[in-house]
Amino acid sequence: MSQMGSPLHLVKRFVTSLLIFRVDERTEFELLALLSDEEKVLYLSQPRIDRIHSVRNAKFIIGASPESYKPEHVVAAALHDVGKAKADLGVAGRVFATILQSLISEKRIKTWGAKEGLKKQIYWYCLHNERGAELLEEAGSASVAVAWARYHHDREDHENIPAGVIALLRKADRI
Ligand SMILES: [Fe+2]
Ligand SMILES: [Fe+2]
Repeated sequence: MSQMGSPLHLVKRFVTSLLIFRVDERTEFELLALLSDEEKVLYLSQPRIDRIHSVRNAKFIIGASPESYKPEHVVAAALHDVGKAKADLGVAGRVFATILQSLISEKRIKTWGAKEGLKKQIYWYCLHNERGAELLEEAGSASVAVAWARYHHDREDHENIPAGVIALLRKADRI
């Protein structure tokens, strides 16, 4: 299980969720045109806070030089956090889960997969990268989208994603 980003990243997401209420509809339209039917279902299964994050990620990639990305990179950027929907946690629950993950062992959180209620939700939230990769695999998504969902919290590069692409996807996730 990987860490879910720096406290600064979390604060940015939290502030964004409070200040930005609407999804950028123009970029969302461009994104939806790139998604398969199965991926659209996954995109729409996300709560508003995650759809805003998806569209912001997609917008960054679309705004990059056309030589530096392919449509599948837009999809990878947009759907990397799609596993979070399973946790069904609000903003406060997400902050709590992230703080908890820094305080208790990974091994203990993994045992919460057998529990119910809040512990189970925290388990799903902390494992959203694995869950997201499974969902994208089931949806038949491009290998880069599956790999980015699985490894987007890892600090090291990954052989399944070219270094230039991973740098772009990381920048998109930081905005
Ligand atoms: Fe994530
Ligand atoms: Fe993200």
